Amino acid sequence: MKILVMHGPNLNLLGRREPAVYGALTLDEINAGLGALAAGLGVEISFFQSNHEGELVDRLHQAVEKEDAVVFNPGAFTHYSLALRDAVAAVGIPVIEVHLSNIYAREEFRHHSVIAPVAAGQISGLGGTGYRLALRAAVELAAVGRN
Ligand code: DQA
Repeated sequence: MKILVMHGPNLNLLGRREPAVYGALTLDEINAGLGALAAGLGVEISFFQSNHEGELVDRLHQAVEKEDAVVFNPGAFTHYSLALRDAVAAVGIPVIEVHLSNIYAREEFRHHSVIAPVAAGQISGLGGTGYRLALRAAVELAAVGRN
């Protein structure tokens, strides 16, 4: 089984970016933790980060051929990218939406996700733990062929 972990805009700056909101872990550290968990679960894992909407759309399309499920933090695109929403709806494999921060406890414009209605589910506010829970969920959903 193969799982893709995809990070959207500005998440390359984790560790330095608003640590009070997003925590002190860098993206490499988050990915390393997920890599270790994936090894323990016996699944293959790939990582992709981009600050560009179209690149994220392209990588989602590739996931149809390459992976069985996706863990996706769309960053600010969460709140307005209909192109990413349509891509998530199109791929037909489980996509789990993750946010490090609790988007419902923040500014009003972050309360709405255009991705959530087409995602398999959403985890928000659990920091790095949320990514690990999302990976476990992705493996379970892919195993039962559910999206
Ligand atoms: C985020 C929340 C978004 O509102 C924000 O734009 C991000 C990160 C999170 O992980 O908490 O870039 O997706």
